[in-house]
Amino acid sequence: MTGVDSVYPFGLAPAPGRQRRIAVIAGDGIGPEVVAQALRVVEPLGVPLDIEHFPWSAEHYLKTKETLPTGALVRLRDEFDAIFFGALGDPRVPDGVVARDVLLGLRFGLDLYINLRPVQLLDERLCPVKGKTRRDVNFWVLRENTEGPYVQMGGSFKRDTPDEVAISEDLNTRRGVERIIRAAYTLAKVPHGSAHPTPRVCMVDKANALPHAHGLWQRTFRVVAAEHREVQSSHLFVDVAAMEFVRTPERFDVVVTSNLFGDILTDLGAAICGGLGVAASGNIHPGRCSLFEPVHGSAPDIAGKGLANPLAAFLTLAMLYDHLGEAHCGDRLRKAVEQVVLAGRVTRDLGGTLSTSECGDAVLAELATATRN
Ligand code: NAD
Ligand code: IPM
Ligand code: MN
Repeated sequence: MTGVDSVYPFGLAPAPGRQRRIAVIAGDGIGPEVVAQALRVVEPLGVPLDIEHFPWSAEHYLKTKETLPTGALVRLRDEFDAIFFGALGDPRVPDGVVARDVLLGLRFGLDLYINLRPVQLLDERLCPVKGKTRRDVNFWVLRENTEGPYVQMGGSFKRDTPDEVAISEDLNTRRGVERIIRAAYTLAKVPHGSAHPTPRVCMVDKANALPHAHGLWQRTFRVVAAEHREVQSSHLFVDVAAMEFVRTPERFDVVVTSNLFGDILTDLGAAICGGLGVAASGNIHPGRCSLFEPVHGSAPDIAGKGLANPLAAFLTLAMLYDHLGEAHCGDRLRKAVEQVVLAGRVTRDLGGTLSTSECGDAVLAELATATRN
């Protein structure tokens, strides 16, 4: 962004003469509200998509006891090009089983090892840090997406007694660590409007406290960095990285980190761009069916009130178009969102007065204006 059209290195092979097939999982809470807005741009963007909706959600689970049905993974992998996902999470299902089975199930089952999360400021007025410009806050976080504590290895013993023991293992494999670090270098080498002349990769871990798991990250990083002398490679411990996201975001182009740290750091990344209402993400396996979702959750506190900001969903759909090899649509959509933000036609979380659907109207109007000019 920031005046540079996207060059996305993880996309699908071209499929001339065939409509792309998109699975939509709108989910819970504000998921369906923001997904409905984003899908309004598909027709005006002019690249016909073959869309199929899937009902997996808390509502569906409460009715049927089904989360991710048998066969769904294979079908999605073999018959679809991408998945557009809203959010999962509902207070009526307090143990989060639907999100675990469906969202984590798809991340693991489709081996979507790259969680790509842009931290790109659209308007200086949205940054809560004094004096930071759009050039300063313009980087990518690559979060490892198939390992770490998310694999849910572990268990508990003497549950619900004073002697309870609970263990969650942090799984890290050489293959898993190496492939996400390599993806960071691949991304660093494509232009993305950084103000810095040489591309930079920063690896974030906590090897000082976790010498086994994160020692593996450090050793792997050194090997891969040595193969990319043209890239400036650096390292930060995650506590300092959190501070630097706020203090000097301009030092980052590509940040690569583990699953859990990436989860936490990207909500912080969203905060320096104006909040979760503008944070997009892709769960990607290069060249394969991948899943695109806003960083935010189902926001039960504002669901059903017309308050949800749909811009993260629009920006997420833009990433999905990049993956399909239709970056011209992605770029048009990002520019429309940018214009809407600059014009202050936004929802309350960004200081505006618009409802979810009025903000959607504004994006559509902006696309129409851009097409006429
Ligand atoms: P959340 O992201 O849903 O909400 C955090 C805060 O940000 C809330 O105050 C919410 O109102 C606000 N917010 C989020 N998105 C917004 C938007 N588009 N516009 C305006 N305000 C927005 O996080 P949470 O409250 O911790 O989680 C709620 C549920 O969502 C939980 O069940 C959680 O597990 C789930 N969750 C799901 C996903 C996902 O499906 N990818 C991601 C995060 C959380
Ligand atoms: C996210 C979410 C998920 C995660 C939850 C819902 C499991 O917070 O996508 O950022 O931690 O990955
Ligand atoms: Mn998260």
